[in-house]
Amino acid sequence: MAKITASVFTSHVPAIGAAMDLGKTQEDYWKPLFAGYEYSKQWMKDNKPDVVFLVYNDHATAFSLEMIPTFAIGTAAEFTPADEGWGPRPVPKVIGHPDLASHIAQSVIQQDFDLTIVNKMDVDHGLTVPLSLMCGELDPKKDAWPCPVIPFAVNVVQYPVPSGKRCFMLGQAIRKAVESFDEDLNVHIWGTGGMSHQLQGARAGLINREWDNHWLDLMINDPVACANVPHIDYVREAGSEGIELVMWLIARGAMSDVVDGKVVGPLPTVKHRFYHVPASNTAVGHAILENT
Ligand code: DHB
Ligand code: FE
Repeated sequence: MAKITASVFTSHVPAIGAAMDLGKTQEDYWKPLFAGYEYSKQWMKDNKPDVVFLVYNDHATAFSLEMIPTFAIGTAAEFTPADEGWGPRPVPKVIGHPDLASHIAQSVIQQDFDLTIVNKMDVDHGLTVPLSLMCGELDPKKDAWPCPVIPFAVNVVQYPVPSGKRCFMLGQAIRKAVESFDEDLNVHIWGTGGMSHQLQGARAGLINREWDNHWLDLMINDPVACANVPHIDYVREAGSEGIELVMWLIARGAMSDVVDGKVVGPLPTVKHRFYHVPASNTAVGHAILENT
């Protein structure tokens, strides 16, 4: 049986990818940010999963206003890093896991979540920046990402976006789906995006340290209460792009059994937690949770 043993939560910012690609990680501005991921890169080596199920959002790269799936699962054998305007990032292509991805699609759709199935998709900074932060710089000519990755894209760009509650419930369905896969696979689930940031309008540049840290406490320790945070709170407190945080609740939902609306069993172990402002316009949050 496949099992979800750990979850990783991290913000994504295109400038983080650029800092890595252009050799700027040791500059004064970036050094404290990358220092927060030193533990994580070692943890990733010591706890290498067989597959990463990576929840992220596409930023009008593979999708656009012409087509807006709420939840989309990548079932392809591989995914190419996207050209977001400066050429594709110099990172390895992403190898998928079509067998597990199609099993999850089957199981989750039968659990009444309507997923869009994507057999061809380029992946943007939402997916490649978290991979770079956790795996370090890799040379696409000779290196590969440490394991296959199933991209799972969530619409948090164009309203209406899914609620935190629905994302949390979807995480539980993904947990059941993974656990009903025959092969013994060690699966990690990542929730990415956030934390507070707003890129446009009168409040551009908004950061809310207090709210972010309170939300992270709740996400870890009382995920059911966290899942009930209404979307308007994200927008008011964490800015228009702070809504990306609902994706973390998919990963958190996949980490616990929930019966009658209550988490049963022990809380996951917090292996690492990090918060840093600023990275471009974004408050960067990061955590690693393990299931015991
Ligand atoms: C930034 C943050 C994002 O989440 C994003 O998708 C693009 C840019 C930023 O802070 O620059
Ligand atoms: Fe984003």
